Amino acid sequence: MGITSRRQRFPRLLITLCLVTFGIPLSSQEDKTKCHQACHPTVPGKINAHIIAHTHDDVGWLKTVDQYYYGSKKEHSQLGVQYILDSVTSELAKNKDRRFVYVETSFFWRWWEEQNDHVRASVKELVDQGRLEFLLGGWCMSDEATPHYSALIDQMTLGLKYLNDTFGECGQPRVAWQIDPFGHSAEVALEFADMGFDGVFFGRIDHEDIALRKKNKTMEMVWRPDDTLGPEGDFFTGVMYNIYDPPAGFCFDTYCDDEPIMDNPKLHGVNVNTRVNEFIEVVKKYAQAYKTNNVIITMGGDFHYVVASSWFKNIDKLIKYVNAKPNSDVNVLYSTPACYLQALNKENITWPSKMDDDFFPYGSDEHSYWTGYYTSRPTFKYFVYQVNVALQMTKQLKTALPNDTLADEQFLIQRAMGIAQHHDAVSGTERQHVTDDYSLYLSEGVQAAMKVINVAYRHLLGDYLPEQQACLLMNISQCELPSPTTNYVVLYNPVAHETSSYVVLPVPVGSYKVFGPAGNELETDLLPIQSSVLAIPGRQSTATHSLIFNATGLPPLGANLYLIEKTTAVPTIAQAKTVAKNEDIVVDNGKIKLIFNGTTGLLEQIVRNGVASKLKQNFYYYEGAKGYNYNPLNRASGAYIFRPAKDEKIAVNETAEIKVFQGKNVTEVHQIFTPWLSQTIRVYSNDENIEFIWQVGPIPIVEWQGKEIVTVYDTDIASNSTFYTDSNGRRWMKRLRNYRSSWNWTASEPIAANYYPVTTGAYIADKKQRLNVLVDRPEGASSMRNGSVEIMIHRRLLYDDNKGVREPLDEIAFSQGLVARGTHIVQFVDVRHAAKKYRLRNVRNVYRPWLTVSKADVPNSAEFKISAKSNSFSLLKKPLPHNIHILTLEQWTNSTVLARFEHIFDKKEDPALSSPVPLFFNTGFVQPPEPTENG
Ligand SMILES: *[C@@H]1O[C@H](CO)[C@@H](O)[C@H](O)[C@H]1NC(C)=O
Ligand SMILES: *[C@@H]1O[C@H](CO)[C@@H](O)[C@H](O)[C@H]1NC(C)=O
Ligand SMILES: *[C@@H]1O[C@H](CO)[C@@H](O)[C@H](O)[C@H]1NC(C)=O
Ligand SMILES: *[C@@H]1O[C@H](CO)[C@@H](O)[C@H](O)[C@H]1NC(C)=O
Ligand SMILES: *[C@@H]1O[C@H](CO)[C@@H](O)[C@H](O)[C@H]1NC(C)=O
Ligand SMILES: *[C@@H]1O[C@H](CO)[C@@H](O)[C@H](O)[C@H]1NC(C)=O
Ligand SMILES: [Zn+2]
Repeated sequence: MGITSRRQRFPRLLITLCLVTFGIPLSSQEDKTKCHQACHPTVPGKINAHIIAHTHDDVGWLKTVDQYYYGSKKEHSQLGVQYILDSVTSELAKNKDRRFVYVETSFFWRWWEEQNDHVRASVKELVDQGRLEFLLGGWCMSDEATPHYSALIDQMTLGLKYLNDTFGECGQPRVAWQIDPFGHSAEVALEFADMGFDGVFFGRIDHEDIALRKKNKTMEMVWRPDDTLGPEGDFFTGVMYNIYDPPAGFCFDTYCDDEPIMDNPKLHGVNVNTRVNEFIEVVKKYAQAYKTNNVIITMGGDFHYVVASSWFKNIDKLIKYVNAKPNSDVNVLYSTPACYLQALNKENITWPSKMDDDFFPYGSDEHSYWTGYYTSRPTFKYFVYQVNVALQMTKQLKTALPNDTLADEQFLIQRAMGIAQHHDAVSGTERQHVTDDYSLYLSEGVQAAMKVINVAYRHLLGDYLPEQQACLLMNISQCELPSPTTNYVVLYNPVAHETSSYVVLPVPVGSYKVFGPAGNELETDLLPIQSSVLAIPGRQSTATHSLIFNATGLPPLGANLYLIEKTTAVPTIAQAKTVAKNEDIVVDNGKIKLIFNGTTGLLEQIVRNGVASKLKQNFYYYEGAKGYNYNPLNRASGAYIFRPAKDEKIAVNETAEIKVFQGKNVTEVHQIFTPWLSQTIRVYSNDENIEFIWQVGPIPIVEWQGKEIVTVYDTDIASNSTFYTDSNGRRWMKRLRNYRSSWNWTASEPIAANYYPVTTGAYIADKKQRLNVLVDRPEGASSMRNGSVEIMIHRRLLYDDNKGVREPLDEIAFSQGLVARGTHIVQFVDVRHAAKKYRLRNVRNVYRPWLTVSKADVPNSAEFKISAKSNSFSLLKKPLPHNIHILTLEQWTNSTVLARFEHIFDKKEDPALSSPVPLFFNTGFVQPPEPTENG
């Protein structure tokens, strides 16, 4: 078995020991399977209106997922998913012609748990007969801009496995259904194609795009999200006429105002003829936008079908009366997306194609670009990415445990991550109390994960090991060491090759010795923590200094144990260097020099191999547009929408106070721009990665004016209007400023419409140099000028943007505006080695080593040394090559483990590391010599 570089032929992504494919490819679908015998026939020569009865159930938004499930907190919204499923299943049973589709497995799981055998049997029958069809099948309908692909694959796996375990073959969705996400990514489409879906349907694409597609009959297409794959990655993609709503005038939910079909001639108010004629007109209008004589009419909406009969009765009548009308050229039928695709398939027509590219950004009108949510709620986004590491390592470690007793703990963190990928969760577009609830689930998930981790550590390191505590607040330098004298640190590496990582441990001032797993003392540095960090509201820590050491030789899927000993010696603390005003400040780490202007305190240049290049960095803000959303021009910037009031960004400050602390192996530059914005720039000896650790907040508000904060890296790289952003952390998307590939774009919002989502990084390049920026959470990014990369890092807004959440994005923590602190890793490198440097650093940046602490049970380092042989473990017999990543290692059934291997390089991205890698499983993970890193 071999793994080819990811852009080469199939198998791109999923090589699995236990091969998982869901769904059946279109070619083999032909009415064969028993589950879909139930498609109603279409009528040739007529327009066939496929009624899709559906409910869109957000897995948290205005209410938490559980409040929506139960229907509690009626003041926020009246609806409850449990009643929807009760009502729909009993209404389906009443009439064999009726069809319904259901999407969100996390809700279905909640409901199914409560059903008795009688209900379960009747629902199983509905599923077997194709009357209740599952779509998508993920734990949620995920966002597409902000989740990492590993979390997306996990949440789909969780939902699909549950459906398969519960219903078998007929429970497997064949069509993906992304009707509400605010833009669509190439990576998600490629994953759906790999999972075996027949196609996907979208509700939201850009207003200019959809207008043209309606005119050109290109609402349905074959999308080739990755051109280099050839027809292999082709995927049927349909755009719905009216997002996912019913046609105007035909909303029959009890919460809608439209008139029911009144058809009894013995009663007053009969309207059936008018209503039928109106409906026929709607169908004809829709059909003009589509190529075939089939058209989808979505009948449903957000949390519809609490009283399912009010929908079904009226649809029953529409079908009866439209079809009974003599000489009508419209046929109406209950349908499902799988039945609709079956009908299209019979038409044997060639679809228009969309090559490469994706569906970002999404503009719903000329002043409403949904590019703010790429950054909204930065600390929650970071938390989701952090918990992903805990999830991956928990699944890995659990495979090493002898039995399945901790399955519930693992399920808890899987569920928490599953709902966190929802399009109103990690996207940041939910209400504050809902974010808090996701955070609670994630935090409970980490606690459950720590149980698995602790059992595994004792199993693998030794029973002596005291219980480890996670350090989730390391980003604000908070992680209390439990013992005043000797403590353990365990560092787990979730990556399948050996790595090293600098540990920056917050400690009270003192003299510390650090011993590595072999018992050897490590070199350390002690630097003061930047003063602005100590002042972060809510920070509760006695730590004032950073104890920094190089943790080398972290085993693949394994851990090292370190001993931290506090001694009574006089501490050696790196002191601030005296810098003369008006002179350049030079930070030289042996590999690169960073040159700061002594007058302004800002970074100006980088020197590599004796050559100086421009590398400027500063912070700016946009003033968010205020407004009440009466019309497009009155649109406010909010949780979804980014709309700067002016087309100019404003520097937070033209100067920064600057201090430089130089240790033996690390140098830190502390910059303070204003009391609410500071930065630590950190470089390690002989290392060309530059860490920009930014801290923003509380963002001050004057006269209700919100601010959206960006950091800008400016270079002389001739980027020619082009920049690259990652697609959910995987392939690169080429972006051109002021340009759209499939229509002539109108520059109504020149800033906001040039923003794109990044989840792990962005870059610009010319023939010589490349600037890589690696991020630690999803953010919005752009390049407003050649040579420049701009990334939005925090936003605070006082107006709602009227996209439904009805709450301004004004995050408050500890009674003040929320403070966010995060890291960009910047690589200014030779273009020939840039891809390799990015990929190898990125895999370690996403799956960063997981640090835990406990008191140590040894009185001193001598005893620690004696036990050295058990201070380290690895789940692998041998490390994998650097270009291969184990995407998943997870207990699948009692006797099988699921492993997904992934080539982390794109085709041709690197001359050596892009090549295919053979893997042989019979003798453990053994492979031929790995291509040299300098290749
Ligand atoms: C689905 O479930 C069946 C048993 O009902 C099992 O044989 C099959 O392997 C499962 N498929 C997947 C993809 O898990
Ligand atoms: C769509 O229509 C525009 C003009 O209205 C035309 O230039 C373009 O070629 C059409 N595209 C397709 C794919 O038909
Ligand atoms: C489908 O269309 C192709 C050409 O577009 C034609 O060669 C083929 O015979 C058609 N097949 C059927 C079943 O109509
Ligand atoms: C599973 O392992 C745990 C700890 O090793 C043990 O206490 C428990 O009895 C085991 N359970 C089963 C069902 O084997
Ligand atoms: C530092 O910045 C100041 C203000 O922008 C400028 O006048 C000066 O020339 C810069 N110094 C150097 C050495 O570039
Ligand atoms: C830290 O360890 C790595 C891996 O051994 C090594 O490449 C790097 O040079 C070390 N850094 C320092 C400052 O010694
Ligand atoms: Zn939604």
